Amino acid sequence: MKIISNPTKDEIKNAARALIDGHLVAFPTETVYGLGADATNENAVSRIYSVKGRPTDHPLIVHVSSINQLGKWAVDIPEYAIKLAEEFWPGPITLILKRSEIAKDFITGGQENVGIRVPSHPVALKLLSEFEKLGGVGIAAPSANKFGSVSTTTSTAVKDDLGDLLSTQDMILEGGQSELGVESTIINCLTLVPKVLRPGAITPSMINKLLGSRNSLDYVDNDIKAPGMHLSHYSPKAKVEIGGATNPGEGFIALAKFQTPVGAIRLAAPETIEQYSFQMYEALRLGDQKGLKKIIVLPPSGSELALAIEDRLTKASFNKFINGV
Ligand code: TXA
Ligand code: MG
Repeated sequence: MKIISNPTKDEIKNAARALIDGHLVAFPTETVYGLGADATNENAVSRIYSVKGRPTDHPLIVHVSSINQLGKWAVDIPEYAIKLAEEFWPGPITLILKRSEIAKDFITGGQENVGIRVPSHPVALKLLSEFEKLGGVGIAAPSANKFGSVSTTTSTAVKDDLGDLLSTQDMILEGGQSELGVESTIINCLTLVPKVLRPGAITPSMINKLLGSRNSLDYVDNDIKAPGMHLSHYSPKAKVEIGGATNPGEGFIALAKFQTPVGAIRLAAPETIEQYSFQMYEALRLGDQKGLKKIIVLPPSGSELALAIEDRLTKASFNKFINGV
């Protein structure tokens, strides 16, 4: 597998060609790194599942270059979903819509709906437009990490996590550390009122401000299967605990204003909530690299981006063995 740093236009074209030829290309997005495959190529998509070790009934998000591609993948798109796409794309929001014929069961996990997103990272956008110039219609890309583990926000983390299983013709495009550090907000757009399936950097208040009270957001959603909602997810090898006493030798992640407990190993000291989400996954990975058994985290409080951080850290803190994931 080749790692291509700061890819040039030609190198991105080659990567788009590799996707068309059925290979995997991991690429940077503003949220986390994605492990991409041609979303219409069943064999290529099945490699995503085997490389990640992910159950095949977990649907994949299809990435496209612009809102103009939306109609290829989705039908019966509600007006509020168009508004969300126009306002927030390219950007960290995924819309779940009724699928078109092109979205096969191997993308949707057999469901009648499909998740679509236009990422804003320049490398991702160039890759998508080169891919579409070659006749591609969408790139399926889950976070580029082993199933259930911590998402990757750097190309090094992608290589460490998945490198062994990538072939010589697969690629990793390097594009710096993902600036947001937390996966996209996922919105279920199948109902009269949009519902948050996964909180992210596009926050409820941003959405409500755009849509007004008629379409204001709802939270609880058990209507459709969104396996990212599994209790245990985003977990490092170390046991993650929210709050509580920190013993010497244990990892500690909290805003800078919280002092490091005596003897604890500080893994991150972000000054702001934005820095917290930017550093969070790398800090959890660092804990594993140091061989720590336990990491104590203090999530920031708040209703906006803080909610997304709390969601991921809560899921990271569930014991995966108990939950069987
Ligand atoms: O920021 C992101 O969304 C990143 C970057 C690479 O774009 N992608 C990402 O993909 O986080 P993934 O597969 O790691 O998480 C997507 C979540 C999964 O929990 C999946 O089950 C859910 O979205 N999902 C995808 N398509 C869905 C659908 N059609 N219906 C319900 N849930 C869906
Ligand atoms: Mg993921």
